Amino acid sequence: MASERESIHGQWSSRLAFILAATGSAVGLGNIWKFPYIAGENGGGAFVLIYLVCIAVIGIPIMMAEVLLGRRGRQSPINTMRTLAAEEHANRHWKWLGWAGMLAGFLILSYYSVIAGWALAYVFRTGSGLFTGLTADGVQTIFTNMVNDPERLLAWHTIFMVMTMTVVARGVSGGLEKAVKLLMPALFVLLFVLVGYAWNSGGFYQGVSFLFQPDFSKITANGILIAMGHAFFTLSLGMGAIMVYGSYLPGTASIAKTCIAVSLMDTLVALLAGLAIFPIVFANGLEPGVGPGLIFQTLPIAFGHMDYGAFFGMLFFVLLVFAAWSSSISLIEPAVAWLVENRGMTRIFASVVAGLTTWLFGLLTVLSFNLWSELKLLSGIGIFRDSTIFDLLDYLTANIMLPLGGLLIAVFAAWKMSRAATVDELAMGDGFFYKLWRFLVRYITPVAVIIVFLKAVSVI
Ligand code: TRP
Repeated sequence: MASERESIHGQWSSRLAFILAATGSAVGLGNIWKFPYIAGENGGGAFVLIYLVCIAVIGIPIMMAEVLLGRRGRQSPINTMRTLAAEEHANRHWKWLGWAGMLAGFLILSYYSVIAGWALAYVFRTGSGLFTGLTADGVQTIFTNMVNDPERLLAWHTIFMVMTMTVVARGVSGGLEKAVKLLMPALFVLLFVLVGYAWNSGGFYQGVSFLFQPDFSKITANGILIAMGHAFFTLSLGMGAIMVYGSYLPGTASIAKTCIAVSLMDTLVALLAGLAIFPIVFANGLEPGVGPGLIFQTLPIAFGHMDYGAFFGMLFFVLLVFAAWSSSISLIEPAVAWLVENRGMTRIFASVVAGLTTWLFGLLTVLSFNLWSELKLLSGIGIFRDSTIFDLLDYLTANIMLPLGGLLIAVFAAWKMSRAATVDELAMGDGFFYKLWRFLVRYITPVAVIIVFLKAVSVI
């Protein structure tokens, strides 16, 4: 039996609807844009292995904890934490976890939207056949020209934010839920097509060994932190997105099975993206560690050379935009739900307020690829020597705020909530799997996050 509370924002129509929404949130730029480029920057195999371990032992248990808290509280993360803290006689300051999550959501979406704007721009660039027959150099020039132009980035960022606000204003379980049902399988199919192209590219073997042959001499303490941070980022954990989605989950659905299904799909998409991209990198003599432009500098080469490449390319970027779209709404939903609950705003007005704020923050990222590209705020600190504002925002949110948020979620669920309440809410009995979950969130997750933090701090 789950708690009797009901959400004022409505509920998913079924467990499947929740799986789709949560998968929509999890699968996004993180899988297709970010995973390949950070794997490339951090030496490949060993990084990938650590990331996979983090998904299994940290990500899945924390996702379960987040859904559990959300479904029990049935409100925005801030109010859920406030209610549950009171109910469990915990310190009232736990509500700050909700606030920190809301801030993280704003910051992440502010840059997420700019990158999603690149994907939007590439729908038209690939669709028009611009890349047909181009070499790696030509493709790179097109990318560089785009990011060098702040006005263009601003325009695409604005369009993407308007798209996000429109969906959030209409409520999360509306049209996008149906779109995800159709587009997610299409994205899978297209990734397979790309892997097929990569298979014949001449670099497949090298790509596979780069991704799956761990060479631990290539990994640093900071690389381990990035791998762990990415496990949180890619599963949308640590800031309340999954918590707020959990608050709309019908009381009878199994949390454990749902979370495992979502995590498996998410991981599969990331690995397919890696398998599509790295063979192209090696076949064309490119650098795996070029950074955030990686997919925009590799995949168009493939589209420029395959049959019907303009069509496939356009379709790919359309699907990528949809994947980013269904993720971006979850980044802003905690703030919108809170504005509706506590400020008495309508959903539409709340979406505009939250969207405009994010849009403004986004200017920092827009400028850090061109006019401010030489502005290195923390140039005095070794690992941040070359970090732009975008790099710092990404590092702060993905590698610090999310793991810290996740750690606190685990501590609350496993140490502050009564055992009976969690047994009740997870509704999987009190057997082996419950005990395993509890052991992981009580001991393994917090200790792992703290060790990785301490290691990383020691090298800064
Ligand atoms: N998981 C998404 C991706 O991989 C991004 C995302 C959506 C996210 N909601 C989030 C990241 C909440 C962190 C927290 O693209």
